[in-house]
Amino acid sequence: MPNLATRTVSEVIKERHSVRKYDPAFTISQEEMRDILKEATTAPSSSNLQPWRFIVVQNLETKKQLRAIANNQEQVETASAVIAVLGDKEMFKSIEKVYRSNFEAGFMDEANMERLIASANSTYPYASEEIRKNIASFDAGLVAMQIMLIAKERGYDTVPMGGFNKEKFSEMFNVSDRYFPIVLISVGKAAAPAFNSSRLPIEDVIIDYK
Ligand SMILES: Cc1cc2nc3c(=O)[nH]c(=O)nc-3n(C[C@H](O)[C@H](O)[C@H](O)COP(=O)(O)O)c2cc1C
Repeated sequence: MPNLATRTVSEVIKERHSVRKYDPAFTISQEEMRDILKEATTAPSSSNLQPWRFIVVQNLETKKQLRAIANNQEQVETASAVIAVLGDKEMFKSIEKVYRSNFEAGFMDEANMERLIASANSTYPYASEEIRKNIASFDAGLVAMQIMLIAKERGYDTVPMGGFNKEKFSEMFNVSDRYFPIVLISVGKAAAPAFNSSRLPIEDVIIDYK
């Protein structure tokens, strides 16, 4: 096991791979899951509206039920936790709270707070649902990536999963219409290493230099 304290961000990024075999006896405490999520929510988001929400599943019976609607993927049941990352279609409902808390923390003056609240209130509520879902999905991706890297830094492994029935998920967890499930992330102690995976050559993905 590498010395967890001495790895750089770059090392943690390179160590992360999607792990699909977990030690089912290993438990991550609820408190540690909270710490991971708290740290992950330092991610940037559009106008800092933080349109991500989480459902954390650690109960074995619930994980089994979730596995049944997630293409029977083993890691849904065997990993210590599954974090469902949901998007908030109505992120504009957080505008007041977010900017007031910036003001109360001394990060901005009152005039600036009022200006930013007015500006956000004049755009987000009038954007189409499709645009708001795109914003929430993008921001949820950023927080999801942070979750995976923070977990890796702590010696755990993860796999993000889009392969689950989103309608059934919303029914199973009584998710209100405001929120929509985006991705599941299994988090736990690896029982077998990940497959390695290659990447497209960098020349293929940099379209242009100007
Ligand atoms: C949005 C998204 C959905 C994914 N869905 C699944 C999935 O349902 N099941 C799975 O085993 N892996 C899934 N993956 C993992 C990818 O297969 C994996 O990230 C990719 O092959 C690269 O491998 P690596 O993560 O080990 O670098 C998903 C990844 C992403 C980003």
